Amino acid sequence: MRRDKSRGKVTARTVHIEMRCRWEYLILAVLLLAVLAQMTEAAQANRARRRLRNGNVRKLATNRSQAVAKTARSRQAVRRGTSVAKKTSPSKASKTATPAKIQSKIVGGTTTTISTAPYLVQVRRGTSLCGGSLISTLWVLSAGHCVKGQTASSFLVRGGTTTLDGSDGVVRSVVFTAVAPRFTTTKMNMDASLLKLNETMTGTNIATISMGSFVPKAGSRVRIAGWGLTSEGGSTSRTLRATQITVVRQRVCSQDYGRLATITKYMFCARGKKKDSCSGDSGGAVTRDSTLLGIVSFGYGCARSGYPGVYTAVARIRTWANRIMSNN
Ligand SMILES: *[C@@H]1O[C@H](CO)[C@@H](O)[C@H](O)[C@H]1NC(C)=O
Ligand SMILES: *[C@@H]1O[C@H](CO)[C@@H](O)[C@H](O)[C@H]1NC(C)=O
Repeated sequence: MRRDKSRGKVTARTVHIEMRCRWEYLILAVLLLAVLAQMTEAAQANRARRRLRNGNVRKLATNRSQAVAKTARSRQAVRRGTSVAKKTSPSKASKTATPAKIQSKIVGGTTTTISTAPYLVQVRRGTSLCGGSLISTLWVLSAGHCVKGQTASSFLVRGGTTTLDGSDGVVRSVVFTAVAPRFTTTKMNMDASLLKLNETMTGTNIATISMGSFVPKAGSRVRIAGWGLTSEGGSTSRTLRATQITVVRQRVCSQDYGRLATITKYMFCARGKKKDSCSGDSGGAVTRDSTLLGIVSFGYGCARSGYPGVYTAVARIRTWANRIMSNN
């Protein structure tokens, strides 16, 4: 009897607990519903915001694709604008160097001597100027857009020179060129080229640099150097300039460029406060310690806050470069 009673009590308590549980479930369910409703609202608001952002990007994108399309043309103009003769008339130079275009592009640097970058060479074609890096005594690594569509014999490579005029350097002609297979001027993907010299380049302040096997991490510092424009639409530098910039997270750079450019795995981005590469620096070296990590490729304008410079990741084109060098 007693046992039964107690059992009954127990049962009753159990039922009570079960009921309380169901109430709790109910309350929980209601709360969940409320949270869900809130989340849906937030998601909708977010979507609206995202749509808005997309809308902005799309607007920019139209201009951007135009800019990119134009770039192929204007870049050449810009590069031609970065002529050696040009520096005699800076006003003309600033007219020729079109503003706010994708530019193969050192802004905000300090003058230095070639002894601080003995691997850096000038790659010249007529009055146009690009940079390059001696990755062996016979081979120069430069940008694809500096070489594509041009004959090897139209280039002259000058090494061991601090000055733009290069009177102090060693000159070599080019006997063979190769452009990275995926490079196109519209996408600027895999912006790399190789130039084979007619004979080995050696001498005072001339040295080779080895290609890095890693893409520099976001937040890390790299060095850029060149004789390119010292401001957007400005004139080329009579002496070599160099500066330090910081690598930008890939995703951030992709967002910065939106549809203006697709930031691929063959690229990395880097920026500095009012520091950047600019026209005439294309093809030049991005280094850390004595390793070549990047090739100056492009950017929207020069040193514009929203647009970091874009560089070809040497680690990603290394296999291609090694193959070309061993086969030619
Ligand atoms: C896009 O270009 C047009 C003219 O071509 C200009 O009016 C407009 O402000 C530009 N939009 C953006 C977002 O740059
Ligand atoms: C290589 O090219 C340079 C520049 O054109 C020239 O001065 C030099 O004599 C050439 N060397 C050979 C071995 O042809």
